[in-house]
Amino acid sequence: MSAKRKILVTSALPYANGQLHLGHLMEQIQTDIWVRFQKSMGNECMYVCADDTHGTAVMLRAEKEGKTAEAWIEQMNADHKADSKGFLIGHDNYYSTHSPENKALSELIYSRLKENGHIKVKTIRQLYDPEKEIFLADRFVKGTCPKCKSEDQYGDACEVCSATYEPNELINPKSAYTGATPVEKESEHFFFDLPQFQTMLQEWTRSGTLQDSVANKLAEWLGSGLQAWDISRDAPYFGFEIPGTTGKYFYVWLDAPIGYMASFQNLCDRTEGLEFDDYWAKDSDAELYHFIGKDIINFHALFWPATLTSAGFKTPDGVFAHGYITVNGEKMSKSRGTFIMAKTYLKHLNPEYLRYYYAAKLGSGVEDIDLNLEDFAQRVNTDLVNKFVNIASRCAGFVKKAGGTLSENIAEPALLNEVLAAKESITTFYEKREYSKAIREIMALVDRANEYIQAKAPWALAKEEGKDQEVLDICSMGIHLFRALTIYLGPVLPALNEKACQFLNVSSLTLVDLETTLTGHTINKFKPLLTRIEMTQIEALLAESKEDAVREGGKKAPEQPATKPNKQAAKASSKKETSSETIEFGDFAKVDLRIAKVIEADHVDGADKLLCLQLDVGNNETRQVFSGIKSHYQPEDLVGKNVILVYNLAPRKMRFGLSEGMVLAAGEGNDLWVMEGSADIPPGTKIS
Ligand code: MSP
Ligand code: ZN
Repeated sequence: MSAKRKILVTSALPYANGQLHLGHLMEQIQTDIWVRFQKSMGNECMYVCADDTHGTAVMLRAEKEGKTAEAWIEQMNADHKADSKGFLIGHDNYYSTHSPENKALSELIYSRLKENGHIKVKTIRQLYDPEKEIFLADRFVKGTCPKCKSEDQYGDACEVCSATYEPNELINPKSAYTGATPVEKESEHFFFDLPQFQTMLQEWTRSGTLQDSVANKLAEWLGSGLQAWDISRDAPYFGFEIPGTTGKYFYVWLDAPIGYMASFQNLCDRTEGLEFDDYWAKDSDAELYHFIGKDIINFHALFWPATLTSAGFKTPDGVFAHGYITVNGEKMSKSRGTFIMAKTYLKHLNPEYLRYYYAAKLGSGVEDIDLNLEDFAQRVNTDLVNKFVNIASRCAGFVKKAGGTLSENIAEPALLNEVLAAKESITTFYEKREYSKAIREIMALVDRANEYIQAKAPWALAKEEGKDQEVLDICSMGIHLFRALTIYLGPVLPALNEKACQFLNVSSLTLVDLETTLTGHTINKFKPLLTRIEMTQIEALLAESKEDAVREGGKKAPEQPATKPNKQAAKASSKKETSSETIEFGDFAKVDLRIAKVIEADHVDGADKLLCLQLDVGNNETRQVFSGIKSHYQPEDLVGKNVILVYNLAPRKMRFGLSEGMVLAAGEGNDLWVMEGSADIPPGTKIS
């Protein structure tokens, strides 16, 4: 095996002025998947993060809550930690920038910058709120962007064109505290002399550490010349006082990235054999990667590498920027209930659903990704529940019946080898942060596994005399495939991986473990690994998110007319069949009718007309359909029947769950017959 890599990974430090939401979690999940992948490969990989606690925003938030800044950030820290943990984020350390380690490192780095002649002192005229008697932090002046003329932009950077500038360059500035027009006032400030790093940065940004699109963007920037970076702020300010001054503080963005180091230092101090210098020394052979959002690229790809270079530390080997999440195609919105806080999500849904969905959508680029909630439910239910977990649940019972010990032989070595051979491309995709491609490849293998089991039909063989060994061989094979696929999905689904360890009676399921197989191994009883997402859970999540927004002082959400008109529409369409408007052939051809076999039929709690059907629709796909036929059929009479399914009907959220299609029936009211297809047509066959 090749030598272990030593890797230190960070995600951006969340501000301590608010709770985590699903945007923050996208970043942490992206990072966590990468870290878990590295650990699964056997590398020594550490993931550190912290709260970004300093600055005026936090100071004022604490003031508003009637708390000291220290008390406030402590509470936030506990909240953020709990939320990350809830999403199974495996931080090796989650710390705070308001720590002795960070103070010491910030002072050390500052003293080195100073010694190296990279700090300049200048008296500047700065915007000052004459009503509140405070210098205005960049984020507390709002006005029109001097570059692109977009209105209502903050004083440090434009969210529209990404330009960064000084707050007094804003057109028509206003104090965000009081709305007063700021006045200019003189103050002595400390500057990091970035222009001295022009050449260094030109090379560094082109050294392969950045995504191409990011490097190109920065090249434009570097081309137009750099300016000295103001790293001090005047009291009142929550932060570290600059040594040798009174009333001057380090700007939050100076000590925030140093917080990565401080969090790691704190981890080293508690961990035998982990040495700070092994990771941060200039000549270190460890690797350093930062996962960040596209909004904070300048801080990580210009100021930060220059600071580290001056202070004599190593620079990052990669800065990986990602896009933003949108929900249902739009920016997260408080009034639509799509501004979803981490805590609220966790009250309603399993974190692994979101981890999987994000993974299925994430690539290595800076494009935004959309969390479409209906697609989310369908994708998770189809891929994970119907297909992936199904492999184990179909096989486990037969293995158990045969005594619980897997066969000594591999029934289909070619298939197992095919799955094992995919390791190379899957791990390459993970390494390159092309998670969506990894997932696509894994799911193709999941389909292969299901095809195998479907073709061998152990449930049919089990009814025949003398086939016990064959049944066990097939199902053992299914378990081997399931194990490999669980390992591949491990970085994305760590809790499921753990449950699978218990089921398979093994201590770990890592990529390294793929080198062995479990022939002749005794496994444990199978317990359900993952349940379906019900649309009702998503509805409850959105409803509660709206309430969150109201509590947070957002605008009261307008009433959504979604439920009522839908019901009326349903009624109207059920009356329609008496009319006999003609349709074109093209309209008819759009309807995709297929044969589906009823695998399961159940009563639905609280519904007097509905039965819930699980349908085998071929291609290893199962669909759930709610059908209004309860008064005419006993569930058990339907099982095994071939019915006709409108396969491409848009899925509908019902109070009881998602209905994925419609089963054709003839008649109305008291007489109703489900249309049947002859029993020998395989499920999935199209009707034409
Ligand atoms: N405190 C700074 C980072 C300092 S790093 C030394 C900060 N904090 S933040 O709380 O505003 O954002 C933390 C991270 O979450 C950033 O990388 C940011 O891009 C990311 N996201 C915040 N909202 C997001 C979305 N809606 N979607 C995806 N990521 C988003 O910036
Ligand atoms: Zn702009």
